[in-house]
Amino acid sequence: MRTLEADSRKFGTQGDRLDFALLVDGLQAEREQGITIDVAYRFFATAARRFIVADTPGHEQYTRNMATGASTADLAVILVDARKGVLTQTRRHTRIVALMGIKHVLLAVNKMDLVDCSREVFSAIVESYLPFAAALGVISIQPIPISALEGDHLVAPSARMPWYEGPTVISYLETVDVTGAPVLGPMRMPVQWINRPGPDFRGVAGRLCAGAVHSGDRVRVLPSGLETRVKTIVAWGGERAAAEAGDSVTLTLDDEVDVSRGDVIVAATAPPAVADQFEARLLWMGEHNLIPGRSYLLKMHSKEVRASVTTIKHRIDIGSDAQLAAKTLALNEIGVINLSTAQPVVFEPYAVNRTLGAFILIDPLTFETVGAGMIDFALRRASNVHWQALEVSAPARAALKQQQPCCVWLTGLSGSGKSSIANRLEQRLYAEGRHTYLLDGDNLRHGLNRDLGFTEADRAENIRRVAEVARLMVDAGLIVIVAFISPFCAERRAARDLFTASTFVEVFVDTPLEECERRDPKGLYAKARSGALPNFTGIDSPYELPESPDVHLVTTGRSPEECAEQVFARLP
Ligand code: ADX
Repeated sequence: MRTLEADSRKFGTQGDRLDFALLVDGLQAEREQGITIDVAYRFFATAARRFIVADTPGHEQYTRNMATGASTADLAVILVDARKGVLTQTRRHTRIVALMGIKHVLLAVNKMDLVDCSREVFSAIVESYLPFAAALGVISIQPIPISALEGDHLVAPSARMPWYEGPTVISYLETVDVTGAPVLGPMRMPVQWINRPGPDFRGVAGRLCAGAVHSGDRVRVLPSGLETRVKTIVAWGGERAAAEAGDSVTLTLDDEVDVSRGDVIVAATAPPAVADQFEARLLWMGEHNLIPGRSYLLKMHSKEVRASVTTIKHRIDIGSDAQLAAKTLALNEIGVINLSTAQPVVFEPYAVNRTLGAFILIDPLTFETVGAGMIDFALRRASNVHWQALEVSAPARAALKQQQPCCVWLTGLSGSGKSSIANRLEQRLYAEGRHTYLLDGDNLRHGLNRDLGFTEADRAENIRRVAEVARLMVDAGLIVIVAFISPFCAERRAARDLFTASTFVEVFVDTPLEECERRDPKGLYAKARSGALPNFTGIDSPYELPESPDVHLVTTGRSPEECAEQVFARLP
């Protein structure tokens, strides 16, 4: 209180009175200094409970911060100014709260002193808010008329509002039941690590995110599906007979089953699903827009896998809840998407279990968190499409052609010479009696990829498709030459990931922009410079240099034949 008195004198906005806003204005200070605004966490306790307040900025451009704060909260306090009533901002905040799965809202109708503590004003606000919030799935809503400044209904009842008979803010916070369904549901424990202090002890450590476990319980390890029994439960302080949601424990198991970080130990009688394709809601947090088809790192519970957004079904306008068509998501935008993971993951819908239903997406090049998502359900195709085993194998097909199949990937600016070199290389291979095929950007854009333009998203999809086609052709036993600008590291890397190390040869066709522009074989640079052709690589669309190509072809002063020969020498 003494600190607050001193600060109020110095920085307060309430005259001679205490300025309680200073207690939580960490964000305001950050904002004034222009540093990154995040979530300010404040701690307090009463005799009954301990609390953590996640104080988040409310403006639309800070949606990602609000979502971060909301993602771990049990309850949201939504503040409404009694003079202004339910605003667009109130609805937006409530939608974010509902999206993040918060079930309890304390609707604090503030500044009641400025509306003469009017019961009618309070009731009108509550009536306009309740149906809206209930429709979003918020299950308990407690409206309380308050004056934050004067203290009415914060900790003590207010003599000025005798008509109000409900709880005060503190008495409500102290008593509201926030026990979620996970505690009651079947047992789930994501494995964080294998605890093996010596040769005589091996346990799996993690935090139960649902249900309870007792020694002797039958459990299943997912995704493998192996079953065993819990032998002992070890926790801080020693062995115990049982543990429940929220407890961090080490379980020892009856059999030496294979378990590792990222697996989930679950009740054998009620296992959750395992899938590799989902519908989810995604909040984009990256400065750089989402690119569907691009490979990101997905992290959920303690599992990390490669994943990509296969479709954006629609974007949700958080102000109006309208569904809008979208090809990408920008910072703070929320969309409903289809997601595909490189391996199956154990999950539950976010509405059932926040730990097993939440994920983040990470940019694999910068390691920045670019998205936060909530799984709604697995796509039916995920569990109903299987791999068909083929009797004639890839090595058998290659042996018949008496060659070692591979993908030669030429990347470089438009006009750098990719097509000419690719052509010479194919002639050279053909002359040797090899079975080849040349996939050229311009040509594929007349057929398979004719629906694609030159935006970042379209180029990413362009490359994804040609990489998949090249993979099929290599599988068929061919030597495939790909000549595409392929300007982005992310897609070139994703293409490489489809092949084994020895079957992918990345060739950087390195011709300076000035030289490409001087050649300008199709007159496109001139068009781009005049502004008639937007998004042109090297002019107003980036070309990201290959970091470690297998062949670095410096073309200046050399013929396509010489360049092709250099690549030929590197083929497996
Ligand atoms: S990529 O960037 O998606 O890999 P791709 O190799 O398929 O491009 O196609 C590039 C060819 O399309 C260029 O050689 C050029 O002839 C033509 N083109 C037309 N518009 C553009 C543009 N805006 N940027 C680059 N190339 C373009």
